[in-house]
Amino acid sequence: MANLSRIITQTAWLLFAFGITAAATIDRQQIIGVKEADYNIYSNPDYPNHSVRILQQGDDLCDAGSKQYTGWLDTAGKHFFFWYFESLNKPESDPLNLWMTGGPGCSGLIVTKDGAGTNRNPFSWTKNSSMIFIDQPAGTGFSYVDGGIDLPSDSFVAAADMTAFLQIFYLAFPHLRSVPFHISGESYGGHYIPTLAAEIVRYNGRPGLASEAKIPLTSVMIGDGFVSPLDTTYGYYDTLCTTKPGVPEPVFNITRCTQIAEALPRCVYLHQACYDYPDPILCHAADSFCSSEIRALFDDETGEGGRDPFDITRTCEIDQLCYTEVLTIEEYANTPKMREALNVPKNFKNFTILNMDIHELFWKGNDLFVNTAPEVKYILEAGINVLVYNGNLDLACNTAGNLRWTEKLPWTGQAEFASQSMKPWFAPKDGKMVMAGTMKEVRVITAPGATKAARFSFVTVDRAGHMVPLDQPEISLHLIQTWMTDGEFQR
Ligand SMILES: *[C@@H]1O[C@H](CO)[C@@H](O)[C@H](O)[C@H]1NC(C)=O
Ligand SMILES: *[C@@H]1O[C@H](CO)[C@@H](O)[C@H](O)[C@H]1NC(C)=O
Ligand SMILES: *[C@@H]1O[C@H](CO)[C@@H](O)[C@H](O)[C@H]1NC(C)=O
Ligand SMILES: *[C@@H]1O[C@H](CO)[C@@H](O)[C@H](O)[C@H]1NC(C)=O
Repeated sequence: MANLSRIITQTAWLLFAFGITAAATIDRQQIIGVKEADYNIYSNPDYPNHSVRILQQGDDLCDAGSKQYTGWLDTAGKHFFFWYFESLNKPESDPLNLWMTGGPGCSGLIVTKDGAGTNRNPFSWTKNSSMIFIDQPAGTGFSYVDGGIDLPSDSFVAAADMTAFLQIFYLAFPHLRSVPFHISGESYGGHYIPTLAAEIVRYNGRPGLASEAKIPLTSVMIGDGFVSPLDTTYGYYDTLCTTKPGVPEPVFNITRCTQIAEALPRCVYLHQACYDYPDPILCHAADSFCSSEIRALFDDETGEGGRDPFDITRTCEIDQLCYTEVLTIEEYANTPKMREALNVPKNFKNFTILNMDIHELFWKGNDLFVNTAPEVKYILEAGINVLVYNGNLDLACNTAGNLRWTEKLPWTGQAEFASQSMKPWFAPKDGKMVMAGTMKEVRVITAPGATKAARFSFVTVDRAGHMVPLDQPEISLHLIQTWMTDGEFQR
């Protein structure tokens, strides 16, 4: 199997991993097992095949400081696990933010080093927004499928289920219908977020849909996203062969950089064929060339003590996904206490960060090779705001590659966006304003007669790798708060 798929899928589940990091430190208090009967069950006649089970949890499970609920979306043999946290500020009016590829949440916490307890993260994203973390597609994290049901093989199947989920979720928490809705996530979320947002835009446009039934989608936030595989590979050169990521010397020497430079035109040509004719035979062939001639130079040197694709300045602590946290998380998630509290079925296999079955299906199903930039264009043209942000030390979903597709995106705002150069932006950190990275953005009225411009911003974060909120928590919180309030970044 191609290295890319390995790395990218790892990337996807790594984010999942960091979603649950805090949960891994849940305190040692006893959790009483819950029964089906304890759940409130919601359904919506428009979605006869979907229902949502919801259970309020206490701060003993996760010291979130606000109301929290866990539950399941059940549909046709698929069961999606979610964790919902109310905003710490004003849950009645603060926005709702859905995190894709985040694991079973509890992201409002940080780990105490001795693992003895939890501290509340002062930069929790729940500060000024309510958050839903959902394990999707089915088969990832705690989400599972019943025997005899196929696992999904692409990003598109989950989008329809997520729309149904939201419509039913709103029945349980009706006030959320009147607050702005945002979709965020990282990594493989670059595939899921635009796909779901496009599905919601199509849903909202259904003829005859009552305006109160519309999902108030306002923006998407894609962090270190895997949107365009071709451009991600292209970005290997900038990331490894220049000092642009913010490193004193390029990671690779001239020999390797020449090899990458020589292989890139053919890799691009082949991968473009895969974009134009997205057949797995073509895409696998294209990727096999790009992988062996370019990405393997780095990927073959990852693993314990080796290079870290999520932060080019770091060394992997362990083979699996580079970060030791992964092991603690899996161990904790598999404790009977956790499984009982969350009502994970008895016969559920062990929780793993990286589901190799899904990974292989996404590879075979071609999802790893398709470009979701067309979905980004579609939602921008419907007036949805799009924030693309990137940690500059990330290789797996690098800044250069993401900048490349954003500039190539053929929409009304393209010319203005592409004509701008990146400029520094500033954010508070440890009590002073610091240069946080660089950015550029446009606000463009896309539809004739539209009253609202779509905002398209590309923002980079220095001294951050793949997991920007992990590496730069204060700056990340400032970034998304500024964005969700439609504020201006300080330049
Ligand atoms: C619900 O599931 C049944 C059986 O699979 C199917 O025939 C029906 O079309 C589904 N209804 C909707 C609204 O999806
Ligand atoms: C965020 O919440 C804090 C209280 O926790 C509040 O003081 C502040 O005004 C809120 N900010 C925004 C932008 O809503
Ligand atoms: C370039 O780096 C590779 C891998 O570290 C090494 O094998 C090779 O000898 C280096 N070439 C030069 C010219 O330094
Ligand atoms: C499942 O996880 C538990 C706890 O980490 C471990 O003891 C057990 O060996 C695992 N089982 C399998 C089948 O991997």
